[in-house]
Amino acid sequence: MKSAVDKQATPLRSKRILLGQFWKHAAGSRHLLLLIISAMLADGLMQAGVVNYLKILIDRLMADPSAFVRQTLPPMAVTGLVAGLLFFPVAYVGHLAFSVLGSRLATTFRMALYRHLQCLSVGFFNRKQSGEIASRLTQDVDNGVQIMVGFITGAAWATGVLLTALVSMIALSWKLTLIFIGLNVVYFTIWNRFRHRIGKTAREVRDQAGEVTACATEDIAAVMVMKTFAREDRFYNRFGTAQDRLYKAQVQAARITHVFGDVLQVIGKFIAPVIILGTGALLVDRDGLSIGSLVAFWSYWGLVQGPLGTLYGAAPGLASCMASMNRITDFFEEMPRPADAPGAIRFHPSEGKLNFQEVEFTYPGDNNRPIFNNLTFEVPARSSLGVVGPSGAGKSTLVQLVLRFYDPQKGCIRMDGMDLREMTQESLRKATGVVLQESLMLSGTLRDNLLLGDERATDAQLWTALEQAGAYDFVRATPEGLDTRVGERGVTLSGGQRQRLCIARVFVKNPPIVIFDEATSALDGTTEALIQDSMQRLLKGRTSMIIAHRLSTIIDCDNILMLKDGKVLGLAPHASLMKTCPEYAELVSKQHLHRAEE
Ligand SMILES: Nc1ncnc2c1ncn2[C@@H]1O[C@H](COP(=O)(O)OP(=O)(O)OP(=O)(O)O)[C@@H](O)[C@H]1O
Ligand SMILES: [Mg+2]
Repeated sequence: MKSAVDKQATPLRSKRILLGQFWKHAAGSRHLLLLIISAMLADGLMQAGVVNYLKILIDRLMADPSAFVRQTLPPMAVTGLVAGLLFFPVAYVGHLAFSVLGSRLATTFRMALYRHLQCLSVGFFNRKQSGEIASRLTQDVDNGVQIMVGFITGAAWATGVLLTALVSMIALSWKLTLIFIGLNVVYFTIWNRFRHRIGKTAREVRDQAGEVTACATEDIAAVMVMKTFAREDRFYNRFGTAQDRLYKAQVQAARITHVFGDVLQVIGKFIAPVIILGTGALLVDRDGLSIGSLVAFWSYWGLVQGPLGTLYGAAPGLASCMASMNRITDFFEEMPRPADAPGAIRFHPSEGKLNFQEVEFTYPGDNNRPIFNNLTFEVPARSSLGVVGPSGAGKSTLVQLVLRFYDPQKGCIRMDGMDLREMTQESLRKATGVVLQESLMLSGTLRDNLLLGDERATDAQLWTALEQAGAYDFVRATPEGLDTRVGERGVTLSGGQRQRLCIARVFVKNPPIVIFDEATSALDGTTEALIQDSMQRLLKGRTSMIIAHRLSTIIDCDNILMLKDGKVLGLAPHASLMKTCPEYAELVSKQHLHRAEE
């Protein structure tokens, strides 16, 4: 199972590594972050400063109400108005910058991750479920980045409020401030006890949410299989199981988060008032504390509940954020394999000669057996090589190696005498055109799909390519021609039409080396004959490798390679291979027999 491999491959990183990852990508937006931190700090300072007025207001009002109305009220009102006017731009700039920064960082992260994913090996995508990748690219980036930005700016605001409040509280009554600090020690101890468990459950929720997305994506892709086998119930149950695990993880996370949050509430709303107001009353009675100071102190207590809640309440969010950052970092740490060698050069194909020399290859992974052991053969320039052999012989693996999706462990593969590892992968793949059995098309127009071969091709060149591929007539017959939209993965086209469009795409690309892997095996005889013609036109003057089970497809190739269990049983033109390779002769006789029966 892919998901099992996935889980093992996700080590937990330290916070330092995860924050480093965040900081690295936040580099371009640090000035914005600084602006928000300053605005939030100023916001906090101003909010806390206002409470100071309460003490003056109450003490002076109680001492001499009419003097208060004449002397204190007017300047107080003016100061309040000015503070309000100043507060607006600070708050507005801070909040706007906060939203912009969140979206900007999510964009930076997502683009960087997308670019990195593009460089990863085919093996990586074989290992991971596509939904799992999509979930990290979308949900985890949003979750990780938004919470991190929220926490950093929230912490700045909280620090502003707390610092101002603390200084003012000490000035009002250092004895009450000591009680305030004592209550916070209790808060911190409780928070510390719950922190790890909250983190663990938040991580579990992120992982299970990823599983649900992965399961949904896979099921949607396999909708035809589900319907043909009438196994809707099985798919429903499988999705239900994943969803059930997510639900349980969410309930568990909610349980632990709310126990923690509500214990803090009990202290904040019931125990603290009794202690603070009780002690405050004692101090008013015995220590000369003014009523105004007590009310102002109590107001500060109310004011700091917000920032304290932000800091302590950040635990679950922060744990979820770290879980997401961990899942993103997991992908960032995947090394592009095989990577371009340092100093790799652009490959400029001349004739298109291809040769395998003493190639040894095993797919990466612990339990894979060797596919090739000492494989040597050559495809001379501008000649065609048919490859036949039983299923599992390693025919498609040859294609993966030529495209350098994998590197052989020993030996080397050369194109025009140059080791594939010495050239850039981009230039190698530009020199090679591939048509596979499953002809993949992207959603978009026919033109979009054909231009994958060469973005600069003109419409006239596209029509020529369609003609060469035998696809001209059916495209011409559509009302919108090149602008005809094809569904995702080309589902609105027939198999034969898709195949011819894929061949046309290679005509547009015009590479010196062409590979067909079972490109016609799924087609009926008439369509195959049609495609054979386009194939022959495409192969002319190019080096080619044609992999096929149907011998009729490869019988006219310049050479035929008979492969079995990764070994070359024979390599010669059809006529001589019939004489020198009994396995090939047997294959031919079986297929003739089969045809005779047909
Ligand atoms: N990504 C992979 N990871 C591990 N093993 C693989 C992978 N792809 C293929 N194999 C194994 O390599 C062997 C050769 O596979 P390959 O696809 O090259 O066979 P083939 O000759 O193309 O077969 P067919 O005619 O059925 O297409 C098989 O045993 C297969 O199980
Ligand atoms: Mg194959």
